[in-house]
Amino acid sequence: MAQLWGGRFTKETDRNVYLFNASIDFDKRLYLQDIEGSMAHSAMLAKQGIITAEEKEAIHKGLQSIKADVENGTLEITDKYEDIHSFVEANLIDRIGDAGKKLHTGRSRNDQVALDMKLYVRSEIKEVDALLKQFLEILVRIMEENVDTYMPGFTHLQKAQPVTLAHHFGAYFEMFRRDRGRMTDIYNRMNYCPLGSGALAGTTYPLDREFTASELGFTGPTLNSMDSVSDRDYVIEFLSALSTIMMHLSRFAEESIIWNSNEYGFVEIDDAYSTGSSIMPQKKNPDIAELVRGKTGRVYGHLMAMLTTMKGIPLAYNKDMQEDKEGTFDAIDTTKECLTMFMQMVDTMKFRKDVMERSAMKGFTNATDAADYLVKNGVPFRDAHGIIGRLVLVCIEKGKAIDEMSLKELQEISPVFKEDIFEAVSLETCVEKRLTIGAPGIAAMKQVIGECKKYLAE
Ligand code: ARG
Repeated sequence: MAQLWGGRFTKETDRNVYLFNASIDFDKRLYLQDIEGSMAHSAMLAKQGIITAEEKEAIHKGLQSIKADVENGTLEITDKYEDIHSFVEANLIDRIGDAGKKLHTGRSRNDQVALDMKLYVRSEIKEVDALLKQFLEILVRIMEENVDTYMPGFTHLQKAQPVTLAHHFGAYFEMFRRDRGRMTDIYNRMNYCPLGSGALAGTTYPLDREFTASELGFTGPTLNSMDSVSDRDYVIEFLSALSTIMMHLSRFAEESIIWNSNEYGFVEIDDAYSTGSSIMPQKKNPDIAELVRGKTGRVYGHLMAMLTTMKGIPLAYNKDMQEDKEGTFDAIDTTKECLTMFMQMVDTMKFRKDVMERSAMKGFTNATDAADYLVKNGVPFRDAHGIIGRLVLVCIEKGKAIDEMSLKELQEISPVFKEDIFEAVSLETCVEKRLTIGAPGIAAMKQVIGECKKYLAE
């Protein structure tokens, strides 16, 4: 048991208490951040004349050798150490002796762990953002290829009005674009350095907090030392943003599952992203999409756990905060894995354009446009709504789409129908007439796609 304290104790910690208290099992993931923070801290200590230049050199060499040995596998991070901070410091002292004992001058594990976690979350925000960008690039490619792939748009999962596949995927483009915006917002708000806050009340050493903040790429130092060591808002914000990404993925997954079903057949998920059944030889299941949908629950769970952990904690640091790590790490890993698997599944998915188009034609998605046709020919909208309602009923009886009826059959319902009704309710016309920005008409869609591409190129 290697711990950084013990002077005032007369007894060893009980072994089970030691293990209960220890965080090394999960905070070993922060070894790079811990070393990076210690490099900046010791550079600042030397600059301020608190340690000598030689001591700083020795500390830097020692930290670099620890990093190299962890990476090449010669130095194992084990539960002999209470946490990652003890591991790095104990190994440093083993390697360079007394200079190593000076590293922790003007620092507490409280500001140290606040820094390590911030550095870790900060770099993960960038990684999640990069994955989102990759996904948007796949979506925009599919949008470009499908500006004239007609399909039904749904409300209540009932066919409503015709749209295009480009327009449908464009909706997801907007969702994941906003998710990227959240990454930037969180990054900018959290990017202040807690190092130098000490245990809670700063230190009496003449630290240069601006220096360490800038060495570590922060906008500046945090401005209240008690808040600095006990703030985990940014973890909660990140978990919330990850939950929102998972919510978007889960909706998309749900649609992929429905679209891939035998009944819909809008898409075919590639063999490489499907699984079979051990008993039913005919099956090809959308397990990837289902897992993404299912894993959403655990990311939400981690958000709720963190909110609950933080809610009753008095200022400043309390050990409860050690609970910020496992759930956050799992939420990050889960979201990144889901994003990666799901975007590859979408990238390789085949779209059955003919099935989508037939579905749009057969579902009375042009009923609103048929009513609008009557309105343009002088029928008040409320009456037109009733007439088309009756028409749909007749169509259902005859097993026909509106545009499959003869002019004579249509005129039996309303004499207002003329030959130009067929043009007016064709799928192409129905979509093409929707040309305001944000609508599925090809010209409007192409303009939006142009803006999406410009955004991705920025
Ligand atoms: N393992 C602790 C954590 O993750 C490190 C900080 C410990 N500080 C303390 N005063 N016990 O929060």
